Amino acid sequence: MQRKGIILAGGSGTRLYPITMAVSKQLLPVYDKPMIFYPLSVLMLAQIREVAIITTPQDQEQFIRLFGDGSQYGLSLTWIVQDSPDGLAQAYTLAEDFLAGAPSALILGDNIFFGHGLPSLLAQADANKHGGTVFAYRVADPERYGVVAFEDQKVRQIIEKPQNPPSNYAVTGLYFLDGDAPARAKEIRPSERGELEITSLLQMYLDENLLDVQTMGRGFAWLDTGTHGTLLEAGSFVRTLTERQGMQTGSLDEIAWSNKWIDDAALEERAKLFTKSTYGAYLHSLLSD
Ligand code: DAU
Repeated sequence: MQRKGIILAGGSGTRLYPITMAVSKQLLPVYDKPMIFYPLSVLMLAQIREVAIITTPQDQEQFIRLFGDGSQYGLSLTWIVQDSPDGLAQAYTLAEDFLAGAPSALILGDNIFFGHGLPSLLAQADANKHGGTVFAYRVADPERYGVVAFEDQKVRQIIEKPQNPPSNYAVTGLYFLDGDAPARAKEIRPSERGELEITSLLQMYLDENLLDVQTMGRGFAWLDTGTHGTLLEAGSFVRTLTERQGMQTGSLDEIAWSNKWIDDAALEERAKLFTKSTYGAYLHSLLSD
């Protein structure tokens, strides 16, 4: 079965208040694009065309205004509401009907990845059909994340926000799991902070030796958007890359076109929509290159 994508783009966004009092965090700009463009671009680079986007009830309308049914990118989008932010693992029960037994790639709507070789890393994870694959990335502040505990060089545990982190390796917000994930997610009980933790789900796979933990090396950037400062830094990073290379990161139109999901004429149409912005000029330049 073809792997399907899920973007979890709900949550309360309270850490970014007052900015997120009236707008979803995942719609905030990261330099020249809404934040959610970046995680959606990752799913598209993984060759995934069927994607469910999970939002809060009040924000769904704005996301639909942004993306519609996704056909402009050759995608099929499904819209799902999460009534309250009860935890990341709930994404699987909410998306159970959408997945209909298919394996999935879940990405958090606020996670930004960049790096040479990302498509092949994603292709490897997709090829692992039994169990799942997650990515561990070295960070200076592991206590803010799900953290990998190694024993004899093997991953034994994944611990959510440990006070004393057993390593510097955080688990990123990109999870490739098999078709059993919704059934397993139903077995999870809320943690002390009252959430259905993604780390509890990962631990189930780990305990059965079904989880491949791939290290995402130093050649990759996994950017944080969790605080006002890191959000600004993520925007600066994207700006630096874009201006230096004259190439865009997270351009959904470009990826759709290079995947051959839309043709030249369709890209031209899209470029016309954005004539007044640098994004439109960029799409035009792709066609004339
Ligand atoms: O970014 C990677 C980290 O994401 C992992 O290392 C952690 O194991 C994982 O728990 C998660 O940690 P965060 O502290 O970043 O989780 P947060 O509560 O901020 O939620 C992440 C995103 O998911 C955020 O954009 C809001 C959204 N969300 C969150 C919850 C709890 C939802 O859409 N629904 C929810 O119920």
